[in-house]
Amino acid sequence: MRLCWILPIAAITCCTIPALALDIKDKTFITENAGKVVFSHSIHLKKKSRNSPNISCKGCHNNAMKSNAHYTMAQMYQGKSCGQCHNGKRAFALAKCTACHKVRNITFKVKETGPVLFKHNAHLQNKSECSTCHNALFKAGSNPRASMNEMEKGKSCGACHNGRNAFPLSDCSNCHPTKEITYIEKDAGNVIFSHNNHTGLYKCGECHTKIFNTIKSKIRVSMKEMEAGKSCGACHEGKTAFSVATDKDCDKCHKM
Ligand code: HEC
Ligand code: HEC
Ligand code: HEC
Ligand code: HEC
Ligand code: HEC
Ligand code: HEC
Ligand code: HEC
Ligand code: HEC
Ligand code: HEC
Repeated sequence: MRLCWILPIAAITCCTIPALALDIKDKTFITENAGKVVFSHSIHLKKKSRNSPNISCKGCHNNAMKSNAHYTMAQMYQGKSCGQCHNGKRAFALAKCTACHKVRNITFKVKETGPVLFKHNAHLQNKSECSTCHNALFKAGSNPRASMNEMEKGKSCGACHNGRNAFPLSDCSNCHPTKEITYIEKDAGNVIFSHNNHTGLYKCGECHTKIFNTIKSKIRVSMKEMEAGKSCGACHEGKTAFSVATDKDCDKCHKM
């Protein structure tokens, strides 16, 4: 195994034919907890011709990086493998995890609330390592779904989002984005429903899906139905909040 590529290296380094060198294929490292890392010969050998004159086959293929051996990050920090150059001097530092490890933003599809976006990059800024989450909290790939109740008990996002290590789970809209809803009413004036002004007072579950479908419903509700306790009228009845039936309060909702 070893001979079969040492020979071509020897051959190429002797006569240095860059065109051939550019054809050496990419190597994909597959790690257990840290996703994939793709190493590209052609990109590295091009860096040579630009701002880094020291990249030669031997610049990497030496005792600090033996073929088909596996290196840990700890060894890289000691100058082995990628760490020969990726030390912040010859090339970007090892601390830039995601420059090598391919991670993407993850969208959790949540039927009840709409999608929740998890950004890897935002979570790797406070020296969080891949191993903080993988695989102790999340397997990279398929996971059992977690409920908010389980999160309250410290599972999934709740391992950190507990008000001590990161913002608490009660800040629903930090994770479940909401927007203003505009009801177009030509005659009575448009109504803007502000999630922000309501979510300080109520949990999502108090409205969804008891009073409103999460997905904006096509079913229009009349003021009569509201007076009978439907839609906004479930609360805007004069006790919990100003009433839908009070003439002087129409314009609190309807903007002309
Ligand atoms: C910037 C570092 C770097 C440089 C420069 C470099 N290599 Fe590599 N090379 C690697 C890494 C990393 C691997 C994958 C490690 C392994 O196989 O264990 C690799 C693997 C290889 C392989 C095995 C490919 C395979 O598919 O298994 C060959 C052949 C090779 N290099 C030839 C060369 C030759 C020839 C040159 C000079 C023209 C060169 N390399 C320059 C880093 C480098
Ligand atoms: C001989 C020195 C050297 C070694 C060893 C080395 N690199 Fe690099 N690498 C560079 C230089 C120089 C650059 C370009 C400068 C920079 O981006 O900081 C670079 C750039 C990169 C880039 C950015 C490529 C792009 O798209 O611009 C990646 C990704 C990368 N290296 C991965 C690796 C991995 C993975 C290893 C180990 C398997 C490795 N490197 C080993 C010198 C090296
Ligand atoms: C220059 C590219 C590069 C950077 C930057 C980098 N890694 Fe790696 N990492 C690799 C490569 C390549 C491997 C696989 C090495 C092997 O199998 O020989 C690896 C392996 C790992 C592993 C599995 C081996 C081990 O050490 O347990 C973990 C975990 C890991 N990286 C986490 C990180 C974290 C966290 C960061 C940021 C602090 C980071 N890496 C930055 C290239 C990089
Ligand atoms: C703060 C927690 C956290 C940290 C730190 C973290 N991840 Fe993740 N990662 C996640 C979550 C959450 C998922 C989605 C899990 C799911 O699908 O249920 C995920 C998924 C993944 C996946 C699978 C993505 C896919 O396409 O399905 C990979 C690969 C991955 N992470 C790599 C990494 C690497 C590499 C690092 C370190 C550089 C890292 N993660 C650090 C939380 C984290
Ligand atoms: C290992 C601890 C940890 C885990 C696990 C974790 N987070 Fe975070 N998260 C943090 C920290 C620390 C911050 C930054 C401090 C803050 O905003 O309170 C943060 C910030 C955020 C932010 C604001 C930054 C941004 O992305 O715009 C969101 C949103 C977020 N986390 C969502 C999630 C979701 C969703 C999950 C579960 C899939 C999760 N987090 C799991 C620690 C964690
Ligand atoms: C740190 C981010 C985060 C915060 C804060 C958060 N959630 Fe979630 N929530 C999630 C993620 C991620 C899922 C999907 C988890 C999965 O599928 O594994 C979820 C799932 C849900 C679900 C469907 C599962 C279930 O438990 O029924 C509901 C409903 C929900 N969240 C409501 C809320 C409410 C209400 C709040 C505020 C009290 C809240 N969430 C705060 C991230 C968060
Ligand atoms: C006071 C009641 C109330 C509370 C509390 C509430 N919502 Fe809503 N939500 C609404 C109304 C009203 C609509 C529009 C429904 C309609 O037109 O059928 C809506 C619509 C939505 C939609 C669909 C938006 C669209 O454009 O289709 C999402 C997603 C949503 N809410 C998420 C949430 C989340 C997440 C929470 C908790 C953070 C929350 N809501 C809390 C009343 C509420
Ligand atoms: C779960 C109860 C509840 C539901 C359902 C509800 N509201 Fe409210 N709303 C309140 C409470 C409580 C207040 C604050 C007390 C007050 O102003 O009387 C409030 C305040 C308001 C305000 C004044 C603050 C602001 O946002 O400018 C408006 C406007 C409003 N609601 C519109 C609506 C509309 C439109 C709907 C239906 C789409 C609706 N609300 C559904 C409870 C509710
Ligand atoms: C709490 C907020 C709120 C208050 C207060 C309110 N409305 Fe409305 N109104 C709405 C919403 C939201 C719609 C659209 C409902 C839909 O499309 O499902 C609507 C629809 C209407 C419509 C068209 C549907 C129909 O019933 O004909 C008229 C007309 C109307 N309102 C008049 C009024 C008048 C007059 C008042 C004062 C007595 C008033 N509204 C007070 C929120 C409010």
